[in-house]
Amino acid sequence: MYIFLTCHQWAISYVLHRFYRIIQGWLIVYHKARLAGTWLWGTSVGLFIVGNALALAVSTYLWNQQAITIGGVYLLFHYSNLLRDPIEKIREELEDLQKAEASIYRIQELLQIQPQLSAGGDRSLPKGALAVTFEEVCFSYESQRVEGKEEREPVLQGISFHLPPGQMLGILGRTGSGKTTLARLLLRLYEPQSGTIRLGNIGIDSTPLIELPQYVGIVTQDVKLFQTTVRNNLTLFNPKIGEEQILQVLEEMGLLTWLQSLPQGLETQLGADNGSLSAGQAQLLAFARIFLKDPGLVILDEASSRLDPFTETLIEQAVDKLLQGRTGVIIAHRLKTIQRADQILILEKGKVIEYGPREQLKNDANSRFSQLLQTSLMEVLA
Ligand SMILES: Nc1ncnc2c1ncn2[C@@H]1O[C@H](COP(=O)(O)OP(=O)(O)O)[C@@H](O)[C@H]1O
Ligand SMILES: [Mg+2]
Repeated sequence: MYIFLTCHQWAISYVLHRFYRIIQGWLIVYHKARLAGTWLWGTSVGLFIVGNALALAVSTYLWNQQAITIGGVYLLFHYSNLLRDPIEKIREELEDLQKAEASIYRIQELLQIQPQLSAGGDRSLPKGALAVTFEEVCFSYESQRVEGKEEREPVLQGISFHLPPGQMLGILGRTGSGKTTLARLLLRLYEPQSGTIRLGNIGIDSTPLIELPQYVGIVTQDVKLFQTTVRNNLTLFNPKIGEEQILQVLEEMGLLTWLQSLPQGLETQLGADNGSLSAGQAQLLAFARIFLKDPGLVILDEASSRLDPFTETLIEQAVDKLLQGRTGVIIAHRLKTIQRADQILILEKGKVIEYGPREQLKNDANSRFSQLLQTSLMEVLA
């Protein structure tokens, strides 16, 4: 409890510190903007005063010359006062124009951002289960400024392994060991700084980036759903996927009962934040989504949270179905999932500390995997 509170305090001071820095920068800009606004306002008020004074001077002169009556003087003064509103309007318009200019500048900045990833070559990946090969892959995220110095923390270092097509790889490792990062590299969300990744013996950057999602499907812990019907969430708005196909997939995955439990079936609207679906149900939906896409490689970043037994059984069935005839890379948190894996890869601080067939590692008393099995996976990976 004490440790928790201390950590909590650190987190608060970290967040406050960042907030303070942001507010400091913002205050300077805010003052500048206020100053410019006040200047504009002052100018328009100044113009108005000068106008009034002029009108007063002219009318006094004319009245002295007996060229106008007192009524005329009033009218002149009144008319010059009427100018105030349009001048104010012009000032407001100028302010809006300034805002528009700033927005255009931002849009231009946005449009000028170039993706760091190349569009890829033009070689197509083979259909069906894909072999996965990593050769000496090293990766780190964008460099971060830590205490004034540019630092690049290596996240994956010299990762090498070969997963034959149709096999299932179980990846184990503590939080922060780089499991999710490895999955991201397979989707080419990032490019490794060195080394090669091959899918079905074709370099991942030799195939068009835009086609890659057709071959690699991923279900992450945090399923993103759109605020629309279940149908649209399953087909990702692809009108070519018909109702029959959807129902067939849901039946194959044993999800028809789940569908029937939804108030309006496929037309059930999902709200923001996954609406009425539980985390497990959202995952099931994501599985079905991948099934409809029919990729040769399925990556599963398993949720570590406990699910209710019913949903858990459904998920297990779904994973089994999903992996039939496909290559699977599963970041495993549950012992049950590991039992299905053909190969096991254990990551520690971005390095492969063990890789091999599950049966072989299980029978080797000295292997890290058999030790993990003995000490109950959950405890070790927590
Ligand atoms: N988008 C990111 N930008 C910078 N660093 C990241 C990012 N995502 C993860 N990391 C860092 O990379 C390391 C590995 O993270 P991750 O791959 O998520 O590990 P795991 O999935 O095994 O828990 C961690 O130190 C984490 O802080
Ligand atoms: Mg992770």
